[in-house]
Amino acid sequence: MSEARSASFLSDIQTLRRRAREHIAEGAVTPGYHADREVVLKLLNEALATEIICTLRYKRHYYMAKGIHAESVASEFLQHAQEEQQHADQLAERITQLGGAPDFSPDGLTTRSHAEYVEGDSLEDMIKEDLIAERIAIDSYREMVNYLGQDDSTSRRLLEEILAKEEEHADDLASLLEGMASH
Ligand SMILES: [Fe+2]
Ligand SMILES: [Fe+2]
Repeated sequence: MSEARSASFLSDIQTLRRRAREHIAEGAVTPGYHADREVVLKLLNEALATEIICTLRYKRHYYMAKGIHAESVASEFLQHAQEEQQHADQLAERITQLGGAPDFSPDGLTTRSHAEYVEGDSLEDMIKEDLIAERIAIDSYREMVNYLGQDDSTSRRLLEEILAKEEEHADDLASLLEGMASH
């Protein structure tokens, strides 16, 4: 623990209470918040855009797979779509807790997102595109987790939780691809 950090850790309770009252209008952002709020909000909005794009892509893949009677793959796509939607909601919630505004605008959505919206021509293409998108999300969330470190542990924990789910998604997709290759 650095000197500055151990000093702030030891702030007496009266000082903490007084500061909390002074800055009540700032909501969850207290003077003990060490991160650069503007940067964190930008990163969280990029993660939000990524989750929205992933939701849309999985929805498209779900309906297309259903149309060609690939039921087990379709149900995997649907489950992923629902989980990406949940991630989007959790990120939007955290953005408002930090006093920011979640960006749901369709304008520039694909630019803000790290992962891409690719439709894919065949079932195998769809799974491959989803796997690529998951791997991009995994890398960018891991970078965000490292950036946040101890400075915003709530946002960091949220991203770690989402990251773990994306790793599960990538694993599911890799298994689906393997299953297709062995047929
Ligand atoms: Fe997600
Ligand atoms: Fe995912």
